[in-house]
Amino acid sequence: MRLIIFLKASSNTGRPLAFAFDIDGVLIRGGEALPAAKEALSIINGNNALGLKIPYILLTNGGGVSEVERCRKLSIQLGVQIDPAQYIQAHTILKTVAHKYADVPVLVLGGKGDTVRKVAEGYGFNEVYNTLDILAWNPSVWPLHTLTQDEHLSVKSADFSQISFAAIFVFHDPRNWALDIQVICDVIQSGGIVGGPYLSDHGRSPVDLVFCNPDLIWRSDFERPRLGQGAFKDAFQTVFKSLTGSNYPHVLYGKPTMATYSFAEMVLKDRLRGQLPSVFPAPDNPESDIAGANAAQWKSILVHTGVYNPQQGPPSHQPTHEAEDVVQAVRWALDQEFDGEGVRKGIVA
Ligand code: G3P
Ligand code: MG
Repeated sequence: MRLIIFLKASSNTGRPLAFAFDIDGVLIRGGEALPAAKEALSIINGNNALGLKIPYILLTNGGGVSEVERCRKLSIQLGVQIDPAQYIQAHTILKTVAHKYADVPVLVLGGKGDTVRKVAEGYGFNEVYNTLDILAWNPSVWPLHTLTQDEHLSVKSADFSQISFAAIFVFHDPRNWALDIQVICDVIQSGGIVGGPYLSDHGRSPVDLVFCNPDLIWRSDFERPRLGQGAFKDAFQTVFKSLTGSNYPHVLYGKPTMATYSFAEMVLKDRLRGQLPSVFPAPDNPESDIAGANAAQWKSILVHTGVYNPQQGPPSHQPTHEAEDVVQAVRWALDQEFDGEGVRKGIVA
C-alpha cells in the first residue's frame, strides 16, 4: 500500500517521478548498448531495494525507421521490452501535422532507400516522394550520382514536371547531402516544381520546409562526435544563401525545441493517466538535451558517455547534475527523490 502512495505523490510538486532517456551516447553507442544501460533500466523496472517501477520514456533526436521497428530493435539491444507508446523519435511529432498535408505532394529526406517514405505514409501523408525518385525520373538533376541497384528498387516513378511539392520534411540524417541540397534548392527556387521556372522572390516560395533534428553533432561509436542533421541544415542554408542572398524560413522540431518537449509531456501524461510527472532526463548533449530540459523546466542529469566531454570544459548549458553514466544518473535521481526508507523526500505519509 505505502509504495503506491509515494509513487503517486512527489516531494514538492505533487507530481509522480518519471525518466526521459536519451538514446545515442546514453543507452546506445553505434549499434551496441552501453554497459550501464541495462543496469539502469533494470533498476527503474523494479530491481531496486524498494521494488519501485518508475515510468519512463525514450526521447531521441534519432529516427529514420518506424517507431515499431526501432522499438523492436531497441528491445533486443537493451534486453527489456520498449513499447512504442513510450518511445519518441525526432519525427514522431509529425503525426500531429500530417493531416494538413495528407493529400498534397510532399518530399521527404533522410534514412535509407524508401524507409522514410513508408514511415511518412504510416503517419498519414498520402503523396510522398523522395530525392531518389526524382533522380530516377531525370538523372541530370544530379549527374554526380548514379542510383545503385538497391536505390533503383526503392524508387516510385512519377513525372515530376507535373508535381508541385507543398512541403519538404527532413525526417532523418540525409545519406546524400549533395543530391538532397540540390533538390531542396530546385523545389524552393521554382515554387514547388523541380526544374520549373525560378520564382523572382524566393522568400515568397509557397514550399514549407521542416527539419526534425537540430543536432549539429551526435555521438556514435567513433572516438569523436559525428555531424548530424543540424550540420546538413546549416550546409543547405549556406548554399541557399549563396544562391539567393538569404536563408530560407523553416520549421524546426526535435530537442531542444519546446514543441518536442510539450509533445513528450503529453506522451508522459497519457502514460500516467493525465498526471504531469516530474521528469528526469539523462542525456549527453548540452546543446540539444540540456538546453531543452532547462527550457522545459525539467531537472537534468548530463552523462559523460556521449557528446559532452568534461575534459573540454564546462557544458554550454548548465544541467541540474552531472553523472559518469546513465546508471549513476538513475541512482542520483532516486537518491534525490527517496530516502533510505523509500519515503519520497518532503512527503508526510
Ligand atoms: O541522429 C541522432 C542523433 O542526432 C542524436 O540522437 O538519441 O542522442 O537524441 P539522441
Ligand atoms: Mg544523445
